[in-house]
Amino acid sequence: MPDFSHLYSINATHMKASTIRELLKLTQKPDIISFAGGLPAPDVFPVEDLRVAANAVFDGPARKALQYGTTEGDDGLRNEIIKFEAKQGVTIAKENLLVVSASQQALDIVAKLFLNPDDYVIAGRPTYLGALQAIQSYSAKVLGVPFSPAQDGFDMDELRRRYAEAKAAGKKLKYVYVIPDFQNPAGFCWSLEKRKALLEFAYETGLPILEDSPYREIRFIGEAIPSIYELDQKGANKGVVINLKTFSKILAPGTRIGWIMADPALIAKCVVAKQAMDLCTNVFTQMWLAEYMKTGKLYGVIESTREKYRVKRNLMVEALRRYMPARDDLSWTEPEGGLFLWVTLPASIDTEKLLLKAVEKKVAFVAGSGFYIDEPEHNSMRLNFSYSTHEQIEEGIKRLAEVVKEALAASGD
Ligand SMILES: Cc1ncc(COP(=O)(O)O)c(C=O)c1O
Repeated sequence: MPDFSHLYSINATHMKASTIRELLKLTQKPDIISFAGGLPAPDVFPVEDLRVAANAVFDGPARKALQYGTTEGDDGLRNEIIKFEAKQGVTIAKENLLVVSASQQALDIVAKLFLNPDDYVIAGRPTYLGALQAIQSYSAKVLGVPFSPAQDGFDMDELRRRYAEAKAAGKKLKYVYVIPDFQNPAGFCWSLEKRKALLEFAYETGLPILEDSPYREIRFIGEAIPSIYELDQKGANKGVVINLKTFSKILAPGTRIGWIMADPALIAKCVVAKQAMDLCTNVFTQMWLAEYMKTGKLYGVIESTREKYRVKRNLMVEALRRYMPARDDLSWTEPEGGLFLWVTLPASIDTEKLLLKAVEKKVAFVAGSGFYIDEPEHNSMRLNFSYSTHEQIEEGIKRLAEVVKEALAASGD
């Protein structure tokens, strides 16, 4: 087999296979109860209604659906997205919108537009590993900012301190990446106050905010807080926020469709960046989703998704309370939406090692260390509650608690 490694680009040498995705392979054996993936519950997919919508495309504009489309996206779908956003109080025009092959492509487009080697992106500690991978694949780095103890957003003093320090050291900072609604991995939700404070920071520093919102609609407790994109729009309207949305968690991730909302000049730039990647997003899928959205049934799917996840989240929290050892240094988040909660274990436990023990007991999670680029914390784990059945949640947490107790006993803690 030829070895081309000496020919790879600088960027390619910075691309790292995610250790988490490697570990996930371990967890995909059929008899394992896995809280590791980020999969939606498959029973929320509206298979029959989607079949009807697909047939309507084949029975109608099939030849258009099988042709190349514009990079900006199918007009029918863009109209439906504009209506969907308007229902949530966000007013956008077509110039503010680019349809993409789901938010992961958007993360890559934005990184491609802004990042030179050794540039920095400001991001939370911890943060979504797919965003970290996109940043690394342009040979760029992350300036990590801790969350405040209230878990309601960044520690803003730390943000300002680390920003000033980085500037003084001559580092080139390019944008701030945040997931304000039920963050992956920890489930944190930013308060209104913190969202406003970050927007002010962006105005002051001139840095754009990349607001990634895949879980925004999956709120099952409490009232929605305006997105940072919306706050900018309804306030100074400076166009500093790039907002990413996706059908992955509100409908089905296999559709691989999402959208970027931003200032028209930035959208125009994203269009050019996307052209080199795939010319246009899958046209059939866009027309299929437009057909489905016209029925108005998406709102019902979102509603039942929220209800199902609320029940599962409660089951997981109750099982953690029941089975985990009661200690001050063992805690978990109790998110008001999304798909994940985050468990912090005593410092003596390394969750990468714990995972191997857990897999022996046929339960799996994602070790928290993968959600950091620099100075990872080793005693946390991400648990997904959307995918497993009620019985699996109960049994899986029971097994996990046994593994934790054994690890504590082994470390004499
Ligand atoms: C925060 C965040 N952003 C982006 C994505 C990518 O989603 P997709 O490409 O399916 O839209 C995910 C997936 O889990 C995510 O958690």
